[in-house]
Amino acid sequence: MTSAVAEPGLSGVTRVAAVIGHPVAHSLSPIIHNAAFAQADLDWTYVAFDVAPGHGADAVAAMRTLGLAGLSVTMPHKHAVADAVDRCSDAAARLGAVNTVAWDGTDLVGHSTDGEGLIDALRSSLGFDADGARVVVVGAGGAARAAVLALSDAGAAHIGVCNRTAVKAESAAALAGSVGSVATPDDLSSADLIVQATSVGMLGGGAPDETPFDPALLGPGQVVVDMVYHPEHTPLLRLAASAGSTVVGGVAMLVHQAARQFELWTSVPAPVEAMTAAATHALAARRG
Ligand code: ATR
Repeated sequence: MTSAVAEPGLSGVTRVAAVIGHPVAHSLSPIIHNAAFAQADLDWTYVAFDVAPGHGADAVAAMRTLGLAGLSVTMPHKHAVADAVDRCSDAAARLGAVNTVAWDGTDLVGHSTDGEGLIDALRSSLGFDADGARVVVVGAGGAARAAVLALSDAGAAHIGVCNRTAVKAESAAALAGSVGSVATPDDLSSADLIVQATSVGMLGGGAPDETPFDPALLGPGQVVVDMVYHPEHTPLLRLAASAGSTVVGGVAMLVHQAARQFELWTSVPAPVEAMTAAATHALAARRG
């Protein structure tokens, strides 16, 4: 017979944060944030809700009703949530997309931490400062747009956007104002920093060995960031490293955007090392 012993764990006062998306089952966010809550000794927990397309605003209403303490937002809800919150941060308003909802008093505020995650990852992995850098962003989807905005706010000297679909490249480049323009693969060789923000190279995507551009264009003295984190070492990163470029994988950005979320919700410094270890461990287990 077992006796009931009080264990530390969930209780009536545990605070709940969540991610909404569709699909959401493969999200690493519950693993990363629960590791952070445990490391920081916070009585918080984090769960994933699969929210059907078209119901992002309902999820924001549910956050109010249930008193959820924080919300991460992924596709396809980033735009709908931007419209449903009480107000948006400057970056989220300019992007028209929200990946984080946090309370400010009784207001729900939409934030976008993806771009800050990129800047933080570059700084903490390499001590790289985007101020004055010549950058090419490859891709023009939501992740690329967040990168363009953050890099221009960080003082990049020029940001070229290279994308399969030209009209989307124009729209993304416009986020950088006078320092933004549409780029071609020829511009890659003169860039200090190349940010790979397409889905090419992602496990479960199309051709596993595909790269979004010819890595022969890369060389020493360049920094290459790949936002794809699964696999951790993408074909592009392997080839860029062989060409002598300095590489940063997508896990660093994933963790740093989550660290910004954690700090918005809890006002406690994020335990980045524990979050990185949790993400890396989970990805290794997925490969196995
Ligand atoms: P996210 O929100 O993650 O950025 P997204 O908005 O769907 O995702 O954007 C995906 C990006 O990957 C786009 O830039 C897309 O190019 P298009 O705008 O031309 O669609 C790019 N992309 C996806 N598959 C690609 C491929 N096989 N080759 C080149 N670019 C690709």
